[in-house]
Amino acid sequence: MCGIVGYIGSKSAVDILLDGLTNLEYRGYDSAGVAVNIDGQVELYKAEGKLQNLKDIVEAKKAHIEKSTIGIGHIRWATHGAPTTVNAHPHSCNCGKVAVVHNGIIENYKELRERLEKQGCVFRSQTDTETVAHLVASKYAQTKDLTEAVRLATQEIEGAYALCVIHQDVKDTIVATRRNAPLLVGIGENEYYIASDVPAIIQYTKKAMYLDDNQIVTLTPTSMKYIDENKNPLEPKVEILPWEPVALSKMGYKHFMLKEIHEQPDVVRNVLSGKLRAIDEAITLNEVTLDKDNLKNLNRIQVVACGTSLHAAMVGKYIIEQLCGIAVDVEPASEFIYRRTITDKNTLVIGVSQSGETADTITAVRQAKALGSHILIVTNRPDSTMAREADSLVPVNAGIEVSVAATKSYMAQVISFYLLALYMAEVKESAAKEDIQKLKHELIILPQKIEKVLSHKEDIQICARKFSGAKDFIFIARGINFPTALEGALKLKEISYINATGYTAGELKHGPIAMLDESMPVLSILMKGGVYEKILSNSEEAKARNARMIALTNSEDQKLKDLFENIMYVPEIDEMLSPALAIVPLQLLAYYIAEFLGKDVDQPRNLAKSVTVE
Ligand code: AGP
Ligand code: GLU
Repeated sequence: MCGIVGYIGSKSAVDILLDGLTNLEYRGYDSAGVAVNIDGQVELYKAEGKLQNLKDIVEAKKAHIEKSTIGIGHIRWATHGAPTTVNAHPHSCNCGKVAVVHNGIIENYKELRERLEKQGCVFRSQTDTETVAHLVASKYAQTKDLTEAVRLATQEIEGAYALCVIHQDVKDTIVATRRNAPLLVGIGENEYYIASDVPAIIQYTKKAMYLDDNQIVTLTPTSMKYIDENKNPLEPKVEILPWEPVALSKMGYKHFMLKEIHEQPDVVRNVLSGKLRAIDEAITLNEVTLDKDNLKNLNRIQVVACGTSLHAAMVGKYIIEQLCGIAVDVEPASEFIYRRTITDKNTLVIGVSQSGETADTITAVRQAKALGSHILIVTNRPDSTMAREADSLVPVNAGIEVSVAATKSYMAQVISFYLLALYMAEVKESAAKEDIQKLKHELIILPQKIEKVLSHKEDIQICARKFSGAKDFIFIARGINFPTALEGALKLKEISYINATGYTAGELKHGPIAMLDESMPVLSILMKGGVYEKILSNSEEAKARNARMIALTNSEDQKLKDLFENIMYVPEIDEMLSPALAIVPLQLLAYYIAEFLGKDVDQPRNLAKSVTVE
């Protein structure tokens, strides 16, 4: 977790660092800090809490701090040590000459700390990161070479890290390296940028180079030296980033989340573009290498993911089983790891991740890969660690998602699962042609239906206002919309902090029904199809226990009006595709409740956008 930025060149560093951190704030917001070098002196500025607190400190001394043309910055999501100023990065050594920012976890920090303390190092923080600062300082004292000092230090470190280091005595140099944490170098005219993620640098340059594990880069304003862990020089693989700076603006919306919810019709069009061209043309997934023979041998599909991506995967299970007749298991990546899992070369393992950097999912797919499974990654970041390890790739094309609560990336993942299932069904010839064509047609017209939901948000706003005082919320659904219930509940929990749970409607009577009374809202997802009547009966059961009933439906059925206090309508849609439409009002409901309660919608407490630690 957390975000790193660095700048070296001829411009003032501090504004670039603060801008970069602003665009990385979705990665963590426990504290922030920068280190600069002014008149041969490394200076650290840090603040607990949101980035604004650091900005206020810097503003007060701006005339002084802006003299530096080199700097590193950090936005923290604490793993070791409380989110205090003293634990904020950058961290330094005894003499204060070294400054280090770190993303990840130093697993052997206790042993390192004990050893370094015996050698006289005085620790100021409770973080694992501070060990790196002391270690680099001691290696620099021996070698007088910052790159070598960082290289030697990383040989003693166990765990995951992206690191950026400066040293007072080498004032025109930044050294950066990584292992199991993302880091890229942006290349300008006589200047370089470093960042954990593209948003930090995209407004300055689109030319960049991704570091791989154990590679070390040494930057001066005019040079970039790039070596492996054994000091062998490497050729930089420079690429042009496929992102536009405009993705980082709210475009007039109050929050990124609201903007991203409204982008969903276009997201669906983007995901389909070039892959689904016409209902009578086969789906094209260029980076999926599974052919008929591979598919014939498959006896199982195992999907691993976390959070919202897990819910998209659960929708995927219904679609693939229905269209392809292959058994699909879906498991949270964090549960899949560290036990014996039954995957082999005849299992297709699908990892789903918006960021492609979620540590639990990376570990899960690596574990499956070691057992010989074909690894297919569904991700919004084709430049990510997970994508680079994939045998097959489905890039989901949602564009940069800034809000911590995922919305448009969920939509893009769900649509990608329809494409993947259709693709496999066509290769495998496992579904009727008419069913395939019907689903393709429904996909093509889906964006207009989402637009319709977005243009009639008043019912949702009314409902949000009415239920914003609730302490708990229950979402019920069955079949393919059970994941919709889970995702609707997750959205509400994440941004409003209301306790919300999704249940399969049929399970309600087996326990949760005991919680129902006149204070409990129950939201039934009632999409027309095979289980509609069943959910209606389950809703009656809840109503009989005095629960406050809300419906989300595409049915004009008049009797719903007697049963439900509030009804949110969506357009007519085939049950098979209904999760892609039903989720939109639930995203809006969560948004309006949180907004009404005055919560920090884009940066909810305790969360961070990509969880790069297990
Ligand atoms: C979504 O709203 C979340 N904040 C979170 O559950 C997220 O989906 C999860 O951490 C997985 O992230 P990934 O998709 O980047 O792997
Ligand atoms: N482990 C470091 C800390 O707790 C870095 C955490 C992170 O990557 O956010 O400060």
